[in-house]
Amino acid sequence: MNDKIFVFDTTLRDGEQVPGCQLNTVEKIEVAKALEALGVDIIEAGFPISSPGDFQSVVEISKVVTQPVICGLTRAVEKDIEVAFEALQYAKRKRIHTGIGTSPYHIKYKLNSTPEKIIERAVAAVKYAKKYVEDVEFYAEDAGRTDNEYLARVVEAVIAAGATVVNIPDTTGYCLPTEFGRKIRFLMENVTNVHKAVISTHCHNDLGMATANTLEGILNGARQVEVTMNGIGERAGNTSLEEVVMAIKSHKDLPVFTEVNSKLISKTSRLVSSLMRMPIQPNKAIVGRNAFAHSSGIHQDGVLKNRENYEIIDPHDVGIKESSIELTARSGRAALKHRLNILGYKLTKKELDEFYERFLDLADKKKDIKDDDLQALAGNVSHSEKSIKLERLQVLSGKSALPVATVALRINGDLQVATGSGNGPIDAAFTAVKQIIKRKVHLEEFLIQAITRGSDDLGKVHVQIENRGKLYYGFSANTDIITGAVEAFVDAVTKII
Ligand code: KIV
Ligand code: ZN
Repeated sequence: MNDKIFVFDTTLRDGEQVPGCQLNTVEKIEVAKALEALGVDIIEAGFPISSPGDFQSVVEISKVVTQPVICGLTRAVEKDIEVAFEALQYAKRKRIHTGIGTSPYHIKYKLNSTPEKIIERAVAAVKYAKKYVEDVEFYAEDAGRTDNEYLARVVEAVIAAGATVVNIPDTTGYCLPTEFGRKIRFLMENVTNVHKAVISTHCHNDLGMATANTLEGILNGARQVEVTMNGIGERAGNTSLEEVVMAIKSHKDLPVFTEVNSKLISKTSRLVSSLMRMPIQPNKAIVGRNAFAHSSGIHQDGVLKNRENYEIIDPHDVGIKESSIELTARSGRAALKHRLNILGYKLTKKELDEFYERFLDLADKKKDIKDDDLQALAGNVSHSEKSIKLERLQVLSGKSALPVATVALRINGDLQVATGSGNGPIDAAFTAVKQIIKRKVHLEEFLIQAITRGSDDLGKVHVQIENRGKLYYGFSANTDIITGAVEAFVDAVTKII
């Protein structure tokens, strides 16, 4: 029988500590509900004593999210524990997560204490939390740099005091995978009462090893993993939920499983990214825009012959509709033929050879070849006829004004104008575009990224829209982000039409 790995999500606590990622209570509830639907076992909803906003969010999440355990963080301080309990009062299943630094750095320079006094404080905090709740998790902050013998004494003492879960954080992301694995194994073999608690990993990604360390932790006996969606968190972030869940799911030989519904990973990732205003790097494992995109000829040919030649994960398993084959100068005939077939062109071998030469000429001049380029090359539709051009854009928005946008599009030579309103100038302009094109489109992804840091910077805008179950991608770069956003939207819409 495989063991269950408990997934402890800390997106709303460690993830939310990132500057600029702060959410209001309504947004936190939305994320918590999405995490509940995703199937995580524990949600760390906040650090209640840290601010009235955090306190209120833990209260509200506790009221509406009923399946997972709701957890509140505290220091090893009585007042923190009392406040956490108050914030958790409505939770159906509640956990207090208390702890203290155990590394020589923390003991000497942060806490100005001694190893023995730290054990006393740890035990006292667990016992105090136990007065309020049955489920008490203890964290040994900076366990990654804590001597294993001493750590084992701390763990044994807090389990004896009643801790149900003991968290071994690699707070600074220092450990190598083998080192972290050995640490967990040492605890499993040397803490006499270890079977009375669950050992948890909590890894940070400062050396890019958070996922590897977490998996080593599991292989050596940990049965809870502390993770965040998209790996967001302090500095280089925390272990990402999607990476651990999919590593376990893809490696059927591992003796463990999670109860996360992986088909909701992509949706949850996009929700967290947009609410926290934290763009996902395109090559991010599992959830990056390019995670299932193939661009070299050899790979495209291989994927078209059998997806598993170059994909270890079926995109449907993480809720992505299809892998994408990007047509560039590096694409081969197989990818071109595949795309042309989808567009309804059946070419003989000779026709395809000729077409391929013209395709390469164009691909050398234009990086990405889209469907309308292929149609123009096929001679059915001239490129200029097919294009939709944003001719004019005028927006009215401000603090107390209803955002309104007027958009003029040139479609097949005709100028068409519409005015729309929305919850902001971009939403208003998208409404106007939708009125002109008269198609039902659903915005799936919308990402604005600055290229450098200045306010005069170019904004890159990526848009993904859905129409009749198919996804269309649009891009633009402009110093005016509203214009850039509308251009990217129009770019995507052009592909539908
Ligand atoms: O990284 C860390 O040590 C933490 C603890 C507070 C659990 O986030
Ligand atoms: Zn942390």
